[in-house]
Amino acid sequence: MLSPVFTPQGPTFRELAVQALSSVERGYDLLAPKFDHTPFRTPDEVLDSTANVLSQLGPFDYGLDLCCGTGAGLDVLRQVCRERVTGVDSSAGMLAVARASAAVPRTAPRADLVRADARALPFRSAFDLVVSFGAFGHFLPHERPELFAQVHAALRPGGRFAFPVAAPARPGSPAYWTLLAFDTGMRVRNALWRPRFVMYYRRFGLARVREELVRAGFAVEAVETYALPEVGRRPDGTPRCRLVVATRGGSRGGSRGGFSQPH
Ligand SMILES: C[S@@+](CC[C@H](N)C(=O)[O-])C[C@H]1O[C@@H](n2cnc3c(N)ncnc32)[C@H](O)[C@@H]1O
Repeated sequence: MLSPVFTPQGPTFRELAVQALSSVERGYDLLAPKFDHTPFRTPDEVLDSTANVLSQLGPFDYGLDLCCGTGAGLDVLRQVCRERVTGVDSSAGMLAVARASAAVPRTAPRADLVRADARALPFRSAFDLVVSFGAFGHFLPHERPELFAQVHAALRPGGRFAFPVAAPARPGSPAYWTLLAFDTGMRVRNALWRPRFVMYYRRFGLARVREELVRAGFAVEAVETYALPEVGRRPDGTPRCRLVVATRGGSRGGSRGGFSQPH
């Protein structure tokens, strides 16, 4: 089957299969030129809605997009940061695409692109804002407290760590079965094949994330959530997606209290 899977410019089934049998880093290197034509790039409504929330919490000076890929989150940072934005990712291929798009003349601010593993970030107290989109499924639950601790250390006192979390799929719904099938397929693949490709969708919920952020050094009362209304609501009226915002303790800004749901 050589026809593209998602869009005419997207990867073919064969290309996706080769990528899925590679390591995470190699898989993204291969996918990079076509990544923006797949549903794996964070959708615009999530990015725009996130920018709306952050613009009310900012302005910020220095922003980092963690696991930036081809740069979806860099555009969010450009809207809310005044000085400089940085993207970090482990895939040279994804960074090359992000670099080409960052080279297009823009008003401000400039973007730096850094190749590094998110579990060993080369930054200390450098950012007022860290965002991340669509990447936490690449980290096993036991790795996330250390990942979040890296972010905590990269933030300045009072800096914010913001990322969207989707509401869990209703048991029995088509989305529920799709995600279950994906995660089960991934588990079977990783039991039978090396190198591993870690990407699990169903192990990243709000309760667990809150606990992991606290273990990483964020105070319980410094973790808030905001509805992302542009992403839509579920049949029961609850938001499909929320933005988690964790604030590092210190002088600038600070929490408004609780693991609250301001909207
Ligand atoms: C699904 S893509 C999301 C890209 C982008 N944030 C977006 O929303 O379109 C996941 C990204 O995480 C990166 N990634 C995965 N594991 C990583 C790690 N350990 N360190 C740094 N980047 C990583 C991949 O290279 C890839 O670019």
